[in-house]
Amino acid sequence: GVMAKIAPSMLSSDFSNLASEADRMIKCGADWLHMDIMDGHFVPNLTIGAPVIESLRKHTNAYLDCHLMVTNPLDYVEPFGKAGASGFTFHVEVTKDNWQELIRDIKAKGMRPGVALKPGTPIEDVYPLVEDEVPVEMVLVMTVEPGFGGQKFMPEMMNKVRTLRKKYPSLDIEVDGGLGPSTIEMAATAGANCIVAGSSVFGDPEPARVISVLRKCVDE
Ligand code: DX5
Ligand code: ZN
Repeated sequence: GVMAKIAPSMLSSDFSNLASEADRMIKCGADWLHMDIMDGHFVPNLTIGAPVIESLRKHTNAYLDCHLMVTNPLDYVEPFGKAGASGFTFHVEVTKDNWQELIRDIKAKGMRPGVALKPGTPIEDVYPLVEDEVPVEMVLVMTVEPGFGGQKFMPEMMNKVRTLRKKYPSLDIEVDGGLGPSTIEMAATAGANCIVAGSSVFGDPEPARVISVLRKCVDE
């Protein structure tokens, strides 16, 4: 079956101490570090870009799960590949006829391709990308409107996760937004195996405990 990947969202970390925050999460049992890249255009918030990934990469060999909330993902493939990103997840809403080129380019630059969708986007939109000869290897189902951490989980999105899991038994399915000990059950039951969690992990005095609760729920 699919393995649990627990990915603390570094958006909720102390950005002025990013290297030590990353180490702390790995010591607490994180599998991946989720990096939220926002361009101030696709979403109404601006975060970090390739230079920060490059700096962080010098301090850690952790899997950097980059979620690109940007209007022109193709422009970011080369810089993120060079910077040492591990996963490159772009949004289906901004791809027109260029997603095949995008997926191939991501792989050519040594990264693992993923596709994300906003709450209002139908799940059918990602099927061609999962079924292509050179497919995406993960689908990220947003469970909040992208842009900010600390928002409320949208349980209606679990229909998308269930549909995907039924159709693709071995696909990595990531959920992102409002995940924590009180919502993980819904996501795990629906079939999600990659769990992004920002405020629930960083806002808890014992992140290791939260991470282990999330993992247990997925593995059961
Ligand atoms: C939102 C980001 C999420 C966010 C999750 O646009 O994609 O990764 O940081 O944070 P929480 O877990 O606090 O909802
Ligand atoms: Zn994210």
